[in-house]
Amino acid sequence: MRDDAKKDGINMVFLSVYRSISLQKDIFYSLKSRRNHIVAERAKFSAPPGYSEHGTGFAVDIGNVYKGKLDFEVEFENTDAFRWHKENAAKYHFKLSFNKNNKNVDYEPLHWRYEGSIEALKVFEASNRNLKKLQH
Ligand code: DAL
Ligand code: ZN
Repeated sequence: MRDDAKKDGINMVFLSVYRSISLQKDIFYSLKSRRNHIVAERAKFSAPPGYSEHGTGFAVDIGNVYKGKLDFEVEFENTDAFRWHKENAAKYHFKLSFNKNNKNVDYEPLHWRYEGSIEALKVFEASNRNLKKLQH
């Protein structure tokens, strides 16, 4: 996918992929305290340890440049990398996990999950069902 993006002149970097529970713990608690957030506030944009799609190994956070200004920011949606990915993601079996209608987690244009294997589909079946309910 990244190679194909490159052929179209798009730079795509992977900012975060698999995260162990201990790494997710560090991220969750350090950012929570740095931003003076209580758990419920923090959980809107960082999953508590044990609840992140990154723990499945199927999620990826996408950026447009190494150590870019827009890393992990919603404004990433204004980049060519996001536009390319949005248009092409389904070809590579990627799906946006947290869209604008998600009530539990903030919109995350950078966070995509892979659903191109039976294992991945099994992991995400329940959330696809919930999404369907939201759409109807
Ligand atoms: N940012 C998403 C919710 C995560 O931490 O898995
Ligand atoms: Zn993510």
